[in-house]
Amino acid sequence: MRRTSTLLLVNIGQLLTLRAAANGPRRGASLSELGVIADAAVLCLGGKIVSVGTTGDALRDPWLKKNRKKVVEIDCGGRVVLPGFVDSHTHPAFMQPRLVDFEKRIAGSNYEEIAEAGGGIRSSIEGVRKASKTALTQKVSAVLADLLRHGTTTVEAKSGYGLDFESELKSLEAIRAAAREWAGTVVPTFLGAHTVPPEYRGRSQEYVDLICTAMIRAVAKRKLAQFVDVFCDRGAFSAEETAQIFAAAEKHKLAVRAHMGQLTETRLGPILQYRPASLDHMDYVNHADLPALAQSDTVATFVPGANYFLGLARYPDARRLVASGVAIALATDYNPGSSPTLSMPMAMSLACTHMKMSPEEAIAAATINGAWALRLADRKGSIEAGKDADLAVFDVHDYREIAYWFGANRCVLTMVNGAPNSPLAS
Ligand code: NIG
Ligand code: FE
Repeated sequence: MRRTSTLLLVNIGQLLTLRAAANGPRRGASLSELGVIADAAVLCLGGKIVSVGTTGDALRDPWLKKNRKKVVEIDCGGRVVLPGFVDSHTHPAFMQPRLVDFEKRIAGSNYEEIAEAGGGIRSSIEGVRKASKTALTQKVSAVLADLLRHGTTTVEAKSGYGLDFESELKSLEAIRAAAREWAGTVVPTFLGAHTVPPEYRGRSQEYVDLICTAMIRAVAKRKLAQFVDVFCDRGAFSAEETAQIFAAAEKHKLAVRAHMGQLTETRLGPILQYRPASLDHMDYVNHADLPALAQSDTVATFVPGANYFLGLARYPDARRLVASGVAIALATDYNPGSSPTLSMPMAMSLACTHMKMSPEEAIAAATINGAWALRLADRKGSIEAGKDADLAVFDVHDYREIAYWFGANRCVLTMVNGAPNSPLAS
């Protein structure tokens, strides 16, 4: 891990601290509290944030006056600085883009029709099974490098395109190998339950049994993942199968999360008993389940990049979930089938334009609540003394511009553990 001993960011036009008034993921009105400091400075030491305030206060600090020469200083030129994005849902372990699916959709087929015709997730399996671990690692590494350029410093990364014992483990090993070479933080997730692979067609219970026994045991033993994920939906895995997989994960002390409500509604009661860290997509949700969801620490994670890329008119009902007190996050869902984007600002832009989230809510959902969705909020997602010094500098002068400019990358600098990653750093 690269580290600078002491780093001072000064002349920050708007610093979005996302500091918390209370503990727990943001809900309701607190999603709009960004803790903005104008003309701000941040001091980082040994990879951690040590103080946050105005530039004037920082420059008057007696310790800093004495040690100024030892400090690497970055003048942010009045730009906006915020916590590095926490992208809590990605699928980077695949080999090829799915261009045939793309064309079929343009010609009028939908996600499920394409999957039934042999496209979809299943068409990514062969590439991963045939790939060497090195080739897969290179693919994941390229994604991680790109994420950092777009302001993301923490990312969750799922397996899920190998779908047999060796290829799922190979995918997680590739994620681990790529993570070791990356400055940011990677949270690996085992998604053996992405779809039933072709050789188990009509025998899904046997595949679920394989996941629940040999696969989860090996993943836990080799410490290859922190979470177990399931695609719980029509054409993938049922709520009963999801509960079975969650119970096996629990037995092996792995936390759980799920793809939920992308295509159809599933009742959440039995799922919430397993205390999932997050339920993702949530296009379809039974309103009677919202009070229980709001009472829990489970984060509902929206991935509007998938709605956009699949050409759907319908987006999740963010306003209803926020009004119900549900904690919400935003993620890219980077994957070759439904969301080939790794830009968190793009996800935020879609959340604002298509889901009527405010720019403030989109920022909180992409930072501190993403950190809650990965159970990393003690270290990530806000700019407060004691937290990891993971920051992003955007070449804008008003934070609302982050979700406003779409289709271009305005991130000019990211910092991870207090080490800068761009030419802006002197
Ligand atoms: O989150 N829904 C399941 N998984 C992905 C799609 C994966 C794929 O199509 O390759 C998603 O949208
Ligand atoms: Fe996904």
